[in-house]
Amino acid sequence: MHNQEQKDIVILAIESSCDETSAAVVKNGREVLSNIISSQIDIHTLYGGVVPEIASRKHIENINPVIREALKEADTTLEEVDAIAVTYGPGLVGALLVGVAEAKAIAFAADKPLIGVHHIEGHICANYITSKELEPPFICLVVSGGHTHLVVVSDYGKYEVIGRTRDDAAGEAFDKVARSIGLGYPGGPKIDKFAKEGNENAIKFPQAVVNGAPLDFSFSGLKSAVLNYINSCEMKNIEYNKADIAASFQKSVVDVLTSHAIKACELYHMNQLAIAGGVAANSAIRASLETECEKRGIRFYRPTNILCTDNAAMIGAAAYYEYMSGIRSSYDLNAIPGLRLGERQ
Ligand code: KG4
Ligand code: ZN
Repeated sequence: MHNQEQKDIVILAIESSCDETSAAVVKNGREVLSNIISSQIDIHTLYGGVVPEIASRKHIENINPVIREALKEADTTLEEVDAIAVTYGPGLVGALLVGVAEAKAIAFAADKPLIGVHHIEGHICANYITSKELEPPFICLVVSGGHTHLVVVSDYGKYEVIGRTRDDAAGEAFDKVARSIGLGYPGGPKIDKFAKEGNENAIKFPQAVVNGAPLDFSFSGLKSAVLNYINSCEMKNIEYNKADIAASFQKSVVDVLTSHAIKACELYHMNQLAIAGGVAANSAIRASLETECEKRGIRFYRPTNILCTDNAAMIGAAAYYEYMSGIRSSYDLNAIPGLRLGERQ
């Protein structure tokens, strides 16, 4: 934890890996002075998903105003911050490049250290903001639109991926199933809401497990099962209940995420579990993990909803621990769309 006698470290963080342009000012890794998020959801909704070229263009339009607003809301200036942090992967290459180029330019012009941050590391570190008492070691279930990982966080900046999806990410499955029942993009929050009107035991969908790999996931079979169910109802001219589909699909996802996360805690003898990423905002997942952790004496941590989905405050939190361990990026920092957790450029 931060020692009161040490100087405060204030970081300006930038996030532009997908469809949110965000800038934040974070003090000592856990205190958010500002977190401005400009979402492009309305534009991408027109196309049913994120269009990479449009995302890049919108980031270019939004990034300067978003940074200006973040500094203003934090009542600080570029001269006063200690470092500039930016997501450099994984994500959409054109979208990442906007943030990386901007961060490099600001770091150079203001003569501040530059810190490249892994997007998933940012998601995990969002927990440090919401739960000031959380310290490693712990297990983190990272569930976003692009990733589904079970991670051992053995120390600040030390990650081991112990389980992952073999195909679709959990968020991708939510988005695809939502589209198939006409809920639109982004599907996760819509299914979350709609499922409350349905019966989660109405339809038995398959579990997203992988035989012989107890901590891995496979969501493509589950997604196909939902599509097959809809097709067969349509072919037989049977009416189907969309809320029941949403609730039953969500239950299947929640069950597998819960059982794998608990299994990971047991296998690695951990009594702390955190969740992270956009899907971690799901109300049913939060409720299920809360109950199962309580039964077993496992402390359960989750970021507030706004810190679950993409934002720059989480990047500022991750960057603080990198800054403190002496990590700095050079001006040849590049966007790496497939950057793996634990790897550095
Ligand atoms: O972490 P995130 O903002 O972006 C990536 O890094 O991918 O995650 C976005 C994903 C989308 O697939 C969205 O549908 C899903 O998170 N999501 C949810 C909920 N809120 C967002 N999924 C289920 N329930 C939610 N409440
Ligand atoms: Zn994300």
